[in-house]
Amino acid sequence: MVLGPLTLRDFRCFTRAEFHPTPGLNLISAPNASGKSSLLEAICVLLRLQSPRTNTLAEMIRRDTAGFSIAGRFGSRRLTCHLGAAEGRRLLLDDTPQRQSGEYLQIGLVAFFSSGDMELVRGPSSKRRRFLDFLGSQCDAGYLKNLRAYERALRARNFLLKAGPHRGRELAAYDGPFVASGEYLASARTRLCEDLAPVVARCVRAISGNDENISLGHTRSGGENLGTALADSAAEEQRLRQTTVGPHRDDIVIKLNDLPAGAFASEGQQRTVSLALRLAQAELIRIRRGSPPVYLLDDIFGELDTGRRHRLLAALPDDAQCILTTTTWQWLEESGSAARWSIADGRIQST
Ligand SMILES: Nc1ncnc2c1ncn2[C@@H]1O[C@H](COP(=O)(O)OP(=O)(O)O)[C@@H](O)[C@H]1O
Ligand SMILES: [Mg+2]
Repeated sequence: MVLGPLTLRDFRCFTRAEFHPTPGLNLISAPNASGKSSLLEAICVLLRLQSPRTNTLAEMIRRDTAGFSIAGRFGSRRLTCHLGAAEGRRLLLDDTPQRQSGEYLQIGLVAFFSSGDMELVRGPSSKRRRFLDFLGSQCDAGYLKNLRAYERALRARNFLLKAGPHRGRELAAYDGPFVASGEYLASARTRLCEDLAPVVARCVRAISGNDENISLGHTRSGGENLGTALADSAAEEQRLRQTTVGPHRDDIVIKLNDLPAGAFASEGQQRTVSLALRLAQAELIRIRRGSPPVYLLDDIFGELDTGRRHRLLAALPDDAQCILTTTTWQWLEESGSAARWSIADGRIQST
């Protein structure tokens, strides 16, 4: 499954641009602020309807225009995503308008690597939950459905808890959906972490060249029984006026040589672990879905030493489509059959 020709309109800095990636390795080089991140972000939005960076897609509408459009093929399917500042999102799948995103999101598979990925190791737990959600929603159709149901129930509960103690009956009405979707998410995330652990360990060895001992564990907020934990937290949530247990407080505990990697690992080790998490995410998508995702690597080579650069390139699978950006590929002497691209004046050109 590969990404075919792509058209962007009024997306970030692009007025109108086309990109025809090849099925293999695509190397894009361009100076800062020429649109590298914008292009990869557009691909991610087209395939997953979300940015790797932000939750507000409206930011991506080119300044002073009414909305963006992105259209392209993935495998045999044709995807189109419009976002209008006034009318909101419109999706087409093979030119048929989609009222819901469920079927649309079954198509595109993406692994996104960015220079902010160190945050996966040393940043707040929200980064790791986002990582799991991005992965989970590509591995299983039920994941996204339950995530949305959970978010709705959580928002409603928090609204009622803020409103005060007299809303107890309304609050109780959300307990059922909250617990059902929460239990689903928690179990799915535990399985994802179990499946990721050996793959991450292999990827850490591939990138560092050393034998480091890495472990991943999912910590479930609310433990094994979310219903009981929710009932037990009733007094506390009334006091704090928010929902205090549930998957919105989950985390992944990452340990390197038995010590928490966020606090104890060196900067180089943290970088290795974050790359390994991304590579493992991509491999797990392939294992669960039977075909690899598109690998999007946005400007991460500049911050790697030469050894890691070459080992990362070698770790990208030969049979996957990879689109890599950087300001310069001068360090790369040999790139075989890779397609090379540049971006200038809002145009993406073969070089
Ligand atoms: N919504 C927008 N409207 C117009 N220009 C934008 C918008 N968002 C970002 N830009 C501009 O797009 C340009 C390219 O940004 P980016 O893709 O991040 O560059 P690169 O990754 O090549 O450094 C920047 O000059 C940025 O200010
Ligand atoms: Mg960039």
